[in-house]
Amino acid sequence: MSGLNLLFPFLSLFVIFTPNFTLVAGLSGCGPHHIQALVQFKNEFDYSGCNQTDYFNGVMCDNITGEVTKLQLPSGCFTGVLKTNSSLFGFNHLRYLNLSYNKFTSSSLSSGFGSLNKLEVLSLSSNGFIGQVPSSLSNLSRLTELYLDHNELTGGFPLVQNITSLSILNLSLNHFSGAIPSSLLTMPFLSYLNLDENHLTDPVEVRSSSTSSRLETLHLRKNPFEGKILDLISNFTTLKYLGLSFQNISYPINLNFFSSLKSLLRLDLSGNSVLETSISSDSDVPRNIEKLLLSSCDISKFPEFVRSLDRLEHIDISNNKIKGKVPEWLWNLPHLIRANLVNNAFTHLEGSNDVLTNSSLRILDLALNHFEGPVPTPPLSINLFSAWNNSFTGNIPLSVCNRSSLVILDLSYNNLSGPIPRCLSNLKDSLVVVNLRKNNLEGSIPDMLYNGSLLRTLDVGYNQLTGKLPRSLLNCSSLRFVSVDNNKIKDTFPFWLKALPGLQVLTLRSNKFYGPVSLPAEVPLAFPKLHILEISDNNFTGSLPP
Ligand SMILES: *[C@@H]1O[C@H](CO)[C@@H](O)[C@H](O)[C@H]1NC(C)=O
Ligand SMILES: *[C@@H]1O[C@H](CO)[C@@H](O)[C@H](O)[C@H]1NC(C)=O
Ligand SMILES: *[C@@H]1O[C@H](CO)[C@@H](O)[C@H](O)[C@H]1NC(C)=O
Ligand SMILES: *[C@@H]1O[C@H](CO)[C@@H](O)[C@H](O)[C@H]1NC(C)=O
Ligand SMILES: *[C@@H]1O[C@H](CO)[C@@H](O)[C@H](O)[C@H]1NC(C)=O
Ligand SMILES: *[C@@H]1O[C@H](CO)[C@@H](O)[C@H](O)[C@H]1NC(C)=O
Ligand SMILES: *[C@@H]1O[C@H](CO)[C@@H](O)[C@H](O)[C@H]1NC(C)=O
Ligand SMILES: *[C@@H]1O[C@H](CO)[C@@H](O)[C@H](O)[C@H]1NC(C)=O
Ligand SMILES: *[C@@H]1O[C@H](CO)[C@@H](O)[C@H](O)[C@H]1NC(C)=O
Ligand SMILES: *[C@@H]1O[C@H](CO)[C@@H](O)[C@H](O)[C@H]1NC(C)=O
Ligand SMILES: *[C@@H]1O[C@H](CO)[C@@H](O)[C@H](O)[C@H]1NC(C)=O
Ligand SMILES: *[C@@H]1O[C@H](CO)[C@@H](O)[C@H](O)[C@H]1NC(C)=O
Repeated sequence: MSGLNLLFPFLSLFVIFTPNFTLVAGLSGCGPHHIQALVQFKNEFDYSGCNQTDYFNGVMCDNITGEVTKLQLPSGCFTGVLKTNSSLFGFNHLRYLNLSYNKFTSSSLSSGFGSLNKLEVLSLSSNGFIGQVPSSLSNLSRLTELYLDHNELTGGFPLVQNITSLSILNLSLNHFSGAIPSSLLTMPFLSYLNLDENHLTDPVEVRSSSTSSRLETLHLRKNPFEGKILDLISNFTTLKYLGLSFQNISYPINLNFFSSLKSLLRLDLSGNSVLETSISSDSDVPRNIEKLLLSSCDISKFPEFVRSLDRLEHIDISNNKIKGKVPEWLWNLPHLIRANLVNNAFTHLEGSNDVLTNSSLRILDLALNHFEGPVPTPPLSINLFSAWNNSFTGNIPLSVCNRSSLVILDLSYNNLSGPIPRCLSNLKDSLVVVNLRKNNLEGSIPDMLYNGSLLRTLDVGYNQLTGKLPRSLLNCSSLRFVSVDNNKIKDTFPFWLKALPGLQVLTLRSNKFYGPVSLPAEVPLAFPKLHILEISDNNFTGSLPP
C-alpha cells in the first residue's frame, strides 16, 4: 500500500475543513465519500506504474455538492479489467471522463457507461477495450465529444446517431464492420468524424438530404467503401479535411466529384485509382487546397490542375507511373514546402538547372525515378534533399554547401563523380545525415567535420574513395553510423574512433586498411556503444579482442 493511502483519513478531514487544501490540488471540493470512491476505483487496478499525485490531480469536484465532475487518468496509470460493477459507474455526475492511454486490456465496454448521463466528454482511446459498444451509450444525450479510437472494438456501427449534440466522434483503429448509417453524416453538430482503419461499408440507402451539415473533418482511410459514399460527400460543402485513402472503389475516382467542396484544404486519395482525364488543367478541383495526397493513384500524367492551387503547401504524387519532365511551374507555387515525387518514371526537371533555387520548398524527395544529368541546385530553404536511386551524373553541386538549413542530404545510388565537397563543413550546424553511397566519388573523404557538428550518419560506401579516414571525424561527437565500405581507403585501424561516445555502426569492409587490429592486452578496445563492426576484406593482421 502506498503512503498516500495511509494519509487518506487525514486528507479527507483537511478537505472538509480547509477547502483550499492544496497537497492534492484536484481534490479540493470533493466530498469525503467521493474521495473514498476514487480510492476504491483506483484499488480495482494495478496502478504501480502510476504517479498517484497525478491521479488525484486529474480529479475535479463540484465545490458545492462535492460530486466528482471530472476524471482524467494520467496515461499509463491503470492496468486491469474494468468490471461491469466498477465503482466508476457510481460517479454519475461526471461531465468529463478521460481514461485514454491506459491498459484495460480485454475489458468490454460496460453498459454502465450509459448511466453516466451527464457526460459531455468521454474518451476511452488506446486502451485495449474489446467487444461491442453497448447500446446504452445512446443514453448519453449531452455528449459532445466521444473518443473510442485505437481499441479492439467490434460489431456494427455504434448507436450514436441520436446523440445529436455530438461534435467530435473518433472511432478510428477498431474493427467496426457493416454499413455506416447515412444519418450519421447529417448529425446537426458533428464537425469531426474519424472512422479510419475499420471494416465499414457504404451506407445502405443514400437518402437524398440537404441537411445543413457542419462536418469539417472526415477521415475514412482504409475502409472497404465501394464508392456510394462519394455521392454523400459531395454534399458536405463545409468539409476542410477529407481523408479517403485506400478504399475499395472499383472505378477510377473523378476529381471533379469534389468540386462542390469549396472549403477543402486537405485531400487524401492515396491508394485509390484516380481518373486520368480529371487531373488535367481544366479540372474543377477546389482552389484552396493546401495538402494534396495522390500517392499510389495509378496516374501516368503530371496532374496539371495543381498549377492553379495557389495555396498548395504539400504535394505527394509518389508511387505512380508519371514519366518525363516535372513541370517548372510546380516550383513557383508560392507556398510549396514539401514535394514527394518518389517512385515514378521522371527523367528531367523542366527548365534550367537552377529551376529549384528560388522555390519555397523545404522537403524535396526525388528518389526512385530515372532522373539524368546534373543534380539540380537545391532550393535555398531546403531541409531535406533526397534524390537517391536515380541516374544523376556529374559532381555534387557546391551550392549544397550554402543551404544552411540542410539537415538530410541523400544522393546515394546515382552515378555521381568527382570529390566529396570539403565545403560541406559549412553545414556543421544543420547536417545530420549525409548519404552518398554507391556513386563514383573520388579523392579522399575531406576533413569536413568540425567541433559541434550534428552529423549522426555518414555513408560513403561503394565509391572510389582513397586516402585516409579524416581525423576530423573525432570532432563529431554525435556520430552514430559511419560506413566507408567498398572504397580504396588505405589507413590503419581507427582505434581513435573509440572516443566517439555514440558510435553504433562502423563498416570498413573491402578497403585497403592494414596493420594490427589488436592492441596490447592491457589496453581495452572500449568502443562504448558499438553494435556492428565490419572489417573483412582488408589487410588487417591480428584479431579483435572479444
Ligand atoms: C508526481 O507528479 C507530481 C506533479 O504532477 C510531481 O511533483 C511529483 O514529483 C511526481 N512524483 C513522482 C514520484 O514522480
Ligand atoms: C467554486 O468554483 C467556482 C468555479 O469553479 C469558483 O468561482 C468558486 O470560487 C468556487 N468556490 C469555492 C468555495 O471554492
Ligand atoms: C485525454 O487524456 C490524454 C492524456 O492522458 C490527453 O492527451 C488527451 O488530450 C485527453 N483527451 C481529451 C479529449 O481531453
Ligand atoms: C464486482 O463483482 C465481483 C464479483 O463478480 C466482486 O468480487 C467485486 O468485489 C465487485 N466489485 C465491486 C467494486 O463491487
Ligand atoms: C438508458 O435510457 C433508457 C431510457 O431512455 C433507460 O431505460 C435505461 O435504463 C438507460 N440505460 C442506462 C444504462 O442507464
Ligand atoms: C436511438 O436511436 C435508436 C434507433 O435509431 C432508437 O431505437 C432509440 O430509442 C434511440 N435512443 C434514444 C435514447 O433516443
Ligand atoms: C482520433 O484517433 C486517432 C487514432 O488514435 C488519432 O490519431 C487522432 O488524433 C484522433 N483525433 C482526435 C481529434 O482526437
Ligand atoms: C445533395 O444536395 C442536393 C441539393 O442540396 C440534393 O438535391 C441532393 O439530393 C443531395 N444528395 C444527397 C446524396 O444527399
Ligand atoms: C471489394 O470490392 C469487391 C467488389 O468490387 C468485393 O468483391 C470485395 O469483397 C471487396 N473487398 C472488401 C475487403 O470488402
Ligand atoms: C532567384 O531570385 C533571384 C533574386 O530574386 C534572381 O536574381 C534569380 O535570377 C532567381 N533565380 C532563378 C533561377 O529564377
Ligand atoms: C533502384 O530502383 C530500381 C527500380 O527503379 C530497383 O530495381 C532497385 O532495386 C533500386 N535500388 C535500390 C538500392 O533500392
Ligand atoms: C595486403 O598486403 C600484402 C602484403 O603487404 C599485399 O601483397 C597485398 O596486395 C595487400 N592486399 C590488399 C588488398 O591491399
